[in-house]
Amino acid sequence: MKIKIAPSILSADFSDLKSELKRMEKSGADLFHIDVMDGHFVPNITIGPVVVQSLRKSTCLPLDVHLMIEHPEKYVDSFVEAGSDMITVHEETVSLNGFKKIAAGLRKKGIKAGISFNPPTAAKRIDKFLPFLDFVLVMSVNPGFGGQKFIPSSIPKVIYLRSKFKGDISVDGGINEEVAGRLINAGASILVSGSYLFKSKTPKFTIERMRNAGI
Ligand code: DX5
Ligand code: ZN
Repeated sequence: MKIKIAPSILSADFSDLKSELKRMEKSGADLFHIDVMDGHFVPNITIGPVVVQSLRKSTCLPLDVHLMIEHPEKYVDSFVEAGSDMITVHEETVSLNGFKKIAAGLRKKGIKAGISFNPPTAAKRIDKFLPFLDFVLVMSVNPGFGGQKFIPSSIPKVIYLRSKFKGDISVDGGINEEVAGRLINAGASILVSGSYLFKSKTPKFTIERMRNAGI
């Protein structure tokens, strides 16, 4: 599986998002990860569909929208209209039937549907969703903020899911070059990176090293 690197724009300079996207595109990014937070599901508020709409005009790369919000079913359509290519909702916020409805609606429009789960949530809870997923997003920090430390118990979760699931497994939070290798060897195929990548003075080399960090 090709390893894809997804810069998380939460760590970008929000006053100059267009140049930030270009800088990451030129450095070899494969897609952009966009963190949507509502101040309820997580203790922070970030961006909404209008920003996604502007980002859509500034890049041709896929937009991977991570909804850390309660009642995602109320907002999915506006993120679809804004130009998302992949949408993730949290296991903690939907029932299986609720997710099936969301996923069916997304697929009709050619948008990939994913589910994410927080560090305290067991990977086994994702089992029932697997037949309806295009990808899984394993949270390797407690969601809400960039720049946190990677939680190592996420690695066995990736191994567990890879033994059951052929689609993309994305991991999000605290990823640097050292952690990247361990995640790729465990079966991850998308690595989301915010603070580590945006702080790099040479993002091209950082992306290359992350992509090739597995054995
Ligand atoms: C955390 C977000 C992450 C975050 C990752 O709630 O979901 O996408 O931006 O940032 P780093 O790589 O700095 O942990
Ligand atoms: Zn995220």
